[in-house]
Amino acid sequence: MRVTIIGTGYVGLTTGAALAYLGHEVTFVDKKASIIEKLASGVPTIHEGGLLELMAAGKQRSAFRTSIPELSGEGVVLIAVGTPSKENGDADLSYVDAAANDVADRITEGARLVVVNKSTVPVGSARHVQGIIARRLEARGVSADVHVASNPEFLAEGRAVHDSLYPDRIVVGSDTPYPWAVMRELYSPILEQTFEAPPGTPRPERFELPPLITTTTTSAELTKYAANAFLATKISFINEFSVLAEKVGADIVEVARAIGLDNRIGSKFLNAGIGWGGSCFGKDTAAVLALGGSYDYQMPIVRAAVDVNRRQRLYVVEKLQQHLKVLRGTTIGLLGLAFKGNTDDLRDAPALTLIRELTERGAVLKVHDPVAMPNARAFYPDLPVQYAESETELALGCDALVVVTDWPQYRQLDFSTLAGEMRGDLVLDARNMLQASAVTEAGLKYVGIGR
Ligand code: UDX
Repeated sequence: MRVTIIGTGYVGLTTGAALAYLGHEVTFVDKKASIIEKLASGVPTIHEGGLLELMAAGKQRSAFRTSIPELSGEGVVLIAVGTPSKENGDADLSYVDAAANDVADRITEGARLVVVNKSTVPVGSARHVQGIIARRLEARGVSADVHVASNPEFLAEGRAVHDSLYPDRIVVGSDTPYPWAVMRELYSPILEQTFEAPPGTPRPERFELPPLITTTTTSAELTKYAANAFLATKISFINEFSVLAEKVGADIVEVARAIGLDNRIGSKFLNAGIGWGGSCFGKDTAAVLALGGSYDYQMPIVRAAVDVNRRQRLYVVEKLQQHLKVLRGTTIGLLGLAFKGNTDDLRDAPALTLIRELTERGAVLKVHDPVAMPNARAFYPDLPVQYAESETELALGCDALVVVTDWPQYRQLDFSTLAGEMRGDLVLDARNMLQASAVTEAGLKYVGIGR
């Protein structure tokens, strides 16, 4: 099929690369020439495992452009532009609106298209986009059969290629039947798992075929918000219990494992730590609260998930204060800047909260991250930190080290080497990911969250 993708962020680029790999003809459109140039040369603009290989394998079927090609005949257009938060938590739809107008400008007489909202958009957005396109076509005097559908993305950064090819489910919302059939065809290699796994992203063992859920646009739009709000709540739940575990003398890691084995609860998203960050959970919980508010409807569970998350980040600061007594003048080394491991994304990263709060309390900050430091330098040029190129360089002169991001490589750290560089002896594992014994055997003090 012919697919045009508007926006080449995490969602657009990964989805497009997957579709090209699966045999579709994909045109990637992004207004930023620098992005398009880089992609056209085969280099991903984001750090995402397996993406380089996927792009290379689908290269013959991929085109990269800074403007939308003419949209004639049949095809699918995926809108995957950014939807940042407005001050009141509502999603800002200005990029979606612009994309819808640009798409409508390129549609030719007699075209039959499915235009898909792939970005996380507020309830009602499919109809909103349908209206924009219809008005523009009318103004241009063009008659075309355009159906707007909602196909929310559930891919998590760091495993986006995996999630695109091996999803738990695919949701297509439409208010007419045509998009359900078209999207079923688009995704049929995934629904039936007829493709060969690409290099670097093997098919999970015993992978069950994902169901296609066809529903209305409104249900599909709400599904995305409900999924993210639920996951955020699950993490906040375990984080709330983590502090209680400390108070009563329990170990939250063991408690989480024990409750997670109950199939009704499930073991995923029960890792207590510094709380969630990233581009989705904060934005989407805010949007849910704004949506509820617009109906004069309170959503205390989602509100609590947000509040607990804010408190949990500050709890890490409090723990540092507890152990170091006076923060002013101490040097603290942060292991990790990205909001989670395996990504270079710094959006709503807990590390940024720590940097702000600790700096305000007079601490000196050093930071290390295996991939996110260039983004930190580019997007936060005034970050009051000293960058370290290695974990050993980070440890030099530190009173405490804090594990902020769950980078797999931090599990392998040689703590006796780090101990030799440090001034103090505190290791605060804000991800509960280290072997406590590896830290204590090096003569350092191990402190986790909720243990
Ligand atoms: C999330 C959803 O998982 C994805 O389906 C949606 O499309 C976009 O939002 P993402 O933000 O990329 O994806 O990462 P995710 O793995 O969900 O983690 C979100 C945050 O929660 C991270 O900060 C992570 O470190 C944190 N987290 C996750 C925990 O603190 N504990 C956990 O048990 C799991």
